[in-house]
Amino acid sequence: MDFFNYKDGKLFCEGVDLSLISKTFDTPAYVYSKKTLERHIDAYIESFTSSNNLVCFAVKSLSNISILKILKDKGCGFDIVSGGELHRVMLAGADPKKIIFSGVGKSKSEIALGIKNDVLSFNIESSSELYRIEKVAKDLGKIAPVSIRFNPDVDSGGHDYITTGRKGDKFGISSIEDILNLSNHISNSDSLKIVGVACHIGSQILGLDSYKAAARKTIELADKLLDLGIELDFLDLGGGLGVPYNGETPPSPNELVACLESELSERKERIIIEPGRSISANAGILLTKVEYIKDEFLIVDAAMNDLLRPALYKAEHDVWNLDKNNAQETKVWNIVGPICESSDFLARNISIPAKEEDVLAIKSAGAYGFVMSSNYNSRPRCPEILVDEDKFKLIRKRESLDDLVRSEINPDD
Ligand SMILES: Cc1ncc(COP(=O)(O)O)c(C=O)c1O
Repeated sequence: MDFFNYKDGKLFCEGVDLSLISKTFDTPAYVYSKKTLERHIDAYIESFTSSNNLVCFAVKSLSNISILKILKDKGCGFDIVSGGELHRVMLAGADPKKIIFSGVGKSKSEIALGIKNDVLSFNIESSSELYRIEKVAKDLGKIAPVSIRFNPDVDSGGHDYITTGRKGDKFGISSIEDILNLSNHISNSDSLKIVGVACHIGSQILGLDSYKAAARKTIELADKLLDLGIELDFLDLGGGLGVPYNGETPPSPNELVACLESELSERKERIIIEPGRSISANAGILLTKVEYIKDEFLIVDAAMNDLLRPALYKAEHDVWNLDKNNAQETKVWNIVGPICESSDFLARNISIPAKEEDVLAIKSAGAYGFVMSSNYNSRPRCPEILVDEDKFKLIRKRESLDDLVRSEINPDD
């Protein structure tokens, strides 16, 4: 459920007419609804029946500091995958004891930053990473909290690029024997402390069966650790819940939480989850103007550098015209950007009314939208705008041409 709706033929975000935002900040531009973000995080937090849990928003899906602050104020923790994301959540005022540091390739400096900031846990994905964390912690004279991300060999379906929990995917440790040996190593180390086990099986997951399978495998592993005398603080089941981009009907956050609580009802450990997309996707849209019409193409001012998902995963986004009344012909269009690549499309075979100069909203663009944007074709990145009821404010400026070359060293200087 989101707060983007037509009122008298004009598309509104909460109480704000989106054409006012497009006139104020020009296009392309990302717009987020605060109410939608709050509703989604509340849906997770309020679904838990016991307080023994932690919801860690996956920062990779949407990382603007103003957005992170909204979620932090709701009591949310964060799942991060880089030193940059750690920097962002700390600037947003995050409680370090609610930060999970995930990711397969943490560098020494990122690990040191995590230890110095006292994060809740490093979710480790290989023995080499574990030994590296141990060494960095030892050099700093600290004890690093770690949990082992295991690979449960569960296929969550969906696009190959976003499935993460099958044997052969690069994520997690697959061999139970290796995990038990590593756990013993952690128990005997003066610089490490084991706090949990973790798995994350994929993204845009549309059913609960794969979560049930992953929860059962997590329990089997936690029991094996208990047999070794190793007690854990938490079981982390990752994120991945899907969203309705184009008629899909994923389970609700409430159904997911009920399913996990039921599967894990006998456990003493805290439950941690790491939702990203299901909180941020439908809270954001990308505004873009039709520059030209050619045959069946709407050539717009946003491109794959602004929203990569269609080019990367053939992802489908619904598209709405901001002004239903002003628009003319309803036709089946391919919506493409100005970038010199045939993969530069934002939507294909989409039936909407449109004419040149109309402004369109690419729906459900809040997750993996702005965060994946780039300067390809030397295009400045879009601004980001946050709507709060009948007010709106800029939360990231449009990049300028000078921003594009700011870090470059001119050979003539
Ligand atoms: C470790 C981890 N946790 C959480 C997420 C968030 O997934 P989603 O945005 O699908 O909820 C991801 C996404 O790839 C991830 O890799």
